[in-house]
Amino acid sequence: MFRTIEWLDDTSEVRLVDQTKLPLTLEHVTTKSHERIAKSIKVMEIRGAPAIGAAAGMGMALAAIESKARTIGDLMEYLEKAADTLNTRPTAFNLTWATNRMLEVAKTAEGSVDDTIQRLVEEAKEIAEEDVRMSRNMGEQALSLIKPGYTIQTICNAGSLATVHLGTVGAVVRVAHEKYGGNIKVYAAETRPRQQGAKLTVFEFMEDGIDTTLITDGMIGTVFRDGRVDCCVVGADRILRTGHVINKIGTYTMAITAKHHKIPFYSVVPVSTIDMVTDPEDVVIEERDPDEIRIINGQYVTVPDAKVYNPAFDMTPPELVDAIITDRGVVKKPTEEKMRKLFESD
Ligand code: MRU
Repeated sequence: MFRTIEWLDDTSEVRLVDQTKLPLTLEHVTTKSHERIAKSIKVMEIRGAPAIGAAAGMGMALAAIESKARTIGDLMEYLEKAADTLNTRPTAFNLTWATNRMLEVAKTAEGSVDDTIQRLVEEAKEIAEEDVRMSRNMGEQALSLIKPGYTIQTICNAGSLATVHLGTVGAVVRVAHEKYGGNIKVYAAETRPRQQGAKLTVFEFMEDGIDTTLITDGMIGTVFRDGRVDCCVVGADRILRTGHVINKIGTYTMAITAKHHKIPFYSVVPVSTIDMVTDPEDVVIEERDPDEIRIINGQYVTVPDAKVYNPAFDMTPPELVDAIITDRGVVKKPTEEKMRKLFESD
């Protein structure tokens, strides 16, 4: 798989895959504007927690260049506004994690404004490179749980497209596929309303020759009862110190169903997705446009003014989570103490 997002050194531009066009066409957005990056995040041309974190980091670097600031004070003012503009989705932790990290670099930089801008560009590139390394590590860490011959249930897209490269769930599947001579299969839930499972996960796993079966979200109970899958591996937009997993809507239902059928339920994240501060009741769950549910392929599939509830994410409590797989290690049966120990290890 190609990289989802890249910094182009020659032109100081950002190039990202437009995921709203997949799987039918592969198009890119190329821009020098942080506002254009903010729009890409908002309209989900780029989506998936680590990918939007990388996009926000690069958006901050573009803002630094655009600012034409002469003093560090002016630069900081421009960057703070840019961070607000880029934070267009409230649930994925990586977004604020990346903008805060970039602000911190600017705040603590020593040297001229030009040097600071260069430092910010390097930091944005490093966030992306780190993400690729973390993906690979997550894939390796998961081998202790994923056995040859396993069929893995996924939801949404936590593949290459949701990160810079390889994915979180994508890395688990790809590393196991590589290590076990292709002896790994995937069941991908379609993921209403935006169908990231159907449009993105099936596309990218099939590109890599991984045996993938598409199901609708409502089929999960039947698939589990019939013994078609060995475990669930999902990504997360945010994992709390308590072990709560905030991920694509439908994840919670999947976890409850998995528990009923004694199927292990795992969530896989880079440490950049772990929020050690927020309490479960304070997590903001994004609610999206009702038309995402009312309209399919440009056609109303319901009464045009039907009342709709469209939360994009849900929260799975730790008692339903068998393990959290991270780039630093695996936390079985997560508790606050175990999460803290993992987070503080390096
Ligand atoms: O609304 P999306 O498509 O951005 O939601 C993405 C997910 O829910 C993913 O599972 C999550 O971000 C993890 S991506 C590695």
